[in-house]
Amino acid sequence: MRGLAVLALISFASLASAKSTFGEACDQADSHLDADTWALVTDCDPQYYCAANGTCANKGCRRDIYPFGYTGVAYSDLPPLCAEGQFCPDEGDQCLTQAPSGGQCQKDRDDECSPPPDQKLYAGYLNTNGSICLNYICYWANVSVGQTCVDENTAYTAYTATGSSYSFIISRDNCANGLYCDGTSLQCIKAKELNAACSGNKECLSYNCEASGKCGHAADEPLHPKPWVYVIIGLGILALIVGVMVSLWFMHRKTRKENQVKLEQYYREQIAYRQSIMSMSHAKNSLLSLPPNTVSYHSQSWSLS
Ligand SMILES: *[C@@H]1O[C@H](CO)[C@@H](O)[C@H](O)[C@H]1NC(C)=O
Ligand SMILES: *[C@@H]1O[C@H](CO)[C@@H](O)[C@H](O)[C@H]1NC(C)=O
Ligand SMILES: *[C@@H]1O[C@H](CO)[C@@H](O)[C@H](O)[C@H]1NC(C)=O
Repeated sequence: MRGLAVLALISFASLASAKSTFGEACDQADSHLDADTWALVTDCDPQYYCAANGTCANKGCRRDIYPFGYTGVAYSDLPPLCAEGQFCPDEGDQCLTQAPSGGQCQKDRDDECSPPPDQKLYAGYLNTNGSICLNYICYWANVSVGQTCVDENTAYTAYTATGSSYSFIISRDNCANGLYCDGTSLQCIKAKELNAACSGNKECLSYNCEASGKCGHAADEPLHPKPWVYVIIGLGILALIVGVMVSLWFMHRKTRKENQVKLEQYYREQIAYRQSIMSMSHAKNSLLSLPPNTVSYHSQSWSLS
């Protein structure tokens, strides 16, 4: 396992070292989108972009708060984030102003499009603040039922933990929330409720078309236990409390009985001591109170017998 990790690290390092660093030569013609992930690939390290003069130059902006490829760089030395109304393009050379509806955008970069005036109404799971980039053109996700829509299907490749790959398709469109763009009629249709038949995630309100061909629960839907579950749990807690109290009562009764027996024994012993002490002192007193001749009488009687 560790050997594998080291191997992966070495291959990653050799891959990274194949890239140019600051000031080294690069060719903008080599820049392209990765066929599996649709991420931009250039001749330069992730910290640099390929400038027009054919060298790798420092990036002028960043998209992420903690961007990839900047290990060991102080937070304050990172290129700046862009202001609202601006975006940092895939190349990361400089902040640009968001494009209006109908303008150009880069692959999957909804944030490069300026949002519609009523962005809260149209903001959704598959767009950014109500604007969406489809086929490199900006749209507002505002098309209503029965109206003509635009859709874009993108195949991505994903890798499992064991290294095998599988591909999945994400279909996005400019229909308003709760609607989806039908692939053949290219019209917005109401998305389906739970357990309705479906052939793709986008057809379901929950965005989860299960393998059985029915709309399932959303992946982030919280669990709502049935009322009887609460009743069972409540009864269980009550039974536990009663059980503990009853067993404590039995335990207490047992120790109380044992203590009672001990106390009675002690009491009897004390009484017996007291009686023997009393009878002894009584004997002594009676001996002392006897007239002297009585003793002699006794000795006499012994001698007689
Ligand atoms: C190439 O362009 C970049 C960005 O404008 C600049 O920082 C760099 O100094 C230029 N390099 C040369 C050799 O002109
Ligand atoms: C989306 O809208 C919010 C609130 O108006 C804003 O803070 C955020 O920057 C916007 N996102 C983008 C990518 O423009
Ligand atoms: C919907 O968005 C388009 C631009 O994509 C715009 O021209 C149109 O006026 C919008 N419609 C509504 C009802 O907001």
